[in-house]
Amino acid sequence: MEHFLSLADLSADDIQRLLDLAIELKQEWRQGGNRPLLANKTLAMIFQKPSLRTRVSFDMAMLHLGGHALYLSPDEIGLGKRESIADIARVLSRYVDAIMARVFAHAHVVELARAASVPVINGLSDYSHPCQGLADLLTIFETFGRLRGLKLAYVGDGNNVATSLLFGATRMGMDFAIASPAGYHLPGEVMRLGRDFAAASGSRLTETEDPVEAVTAAHIVYTDTWTSMGQEAEAQERLRIFPPYQVNAELIAHARPEVRVMHCLPAHRGQEITDEVADGPHSILFDQAENRLHAQKAILVRLLVHEGT
Ligand code: CP
Ligand code: NVA
Repeated sequence: MEHFLSLADLSADDIQRLLDLAIELKQEWRQGGNRPLLANKTLAMIFQKPSLRTRVSFDMAMLHLGGHALYLSPDEIGLGKRESIADIARVLSRYVDAIMARVFAHAHVVELARAASVPVINGLSDYSHPCQGLADLLTIFETFGRLRGLKLAYVGDGNNVATSLLFGATRMGMDFAIASPAGYHLPGEVMRLGRDFAAASGSRLTETEDPVEAVTAAHIVYTDTWTSMGQEAEAQERLRIFPPYQVNAELIAHARPEVRVMHCLPAHRGQEITDEVADGPHSILFDQAENRLHAQKAILVRLLVHEGT
């Protein structure tokens, strides 16, 4: 693994190895015995957008494993404005051991990776959110004890989070059903890749505009904001279109009785998810949030410790 830009770049074996490592590191952390696997390693964190989970979990991941993380705010870097993206990548590569970037255009994180001589991690782009996707697979595995054969239903906007989930699920043999309103489906290219992965892993990928159809027999119902960062100008229009896609008690009653509900957070309570569901017995929202820490430790160790663990 040279960079961590998209779950589509990883094989099922790569993903499984990352999950195994994340579980091992989580166990060590629980027992209070973090190994200094990243001693003297440094991570630059470029943020073009706000963040709670990504920023804090990467910072803590580096700290727990003996390394150091440096936060670079949108204003101080001026990615592609104050300085070219390639020059930023070349300069940072002389100072730090890895770069994590949260960007608007996915092409920008790809450009960073091309020009950097150190590993680059996608901390969310307009295309995908692979760190979230890996943490979500970890959470599902811990909850159900397996991935293969489960059905994950995503209800809402066909966005970056949905893309990474689709790649992760179809790679790992999980059925993936997505319900989105017309005009907000996942890009055709993402569906094409997902169909290939599903064919290879023996899972099913389905797309519908009917949320009830998607969640029927689902083990997991997942949703995310209707308006992602960078789409604020469309918020009013989206608020008009998306309400039938709210994840509420009535919708999840169509899923399996043991259904678990997931959301990458931040949640817009009363919009894409109700309080009743977010705080109810089916919710695993905060396990997901915690698992960002453990999944990202695995990514960092895999990229920075070449002899493995
Ligand atoms: N889920 C997630 O990436 O959260 P932040 O935007 O707070 O980092
Ligand atoms: N789809 C959301 C995820 C936030 C973590 C966004 O891009 O804003």
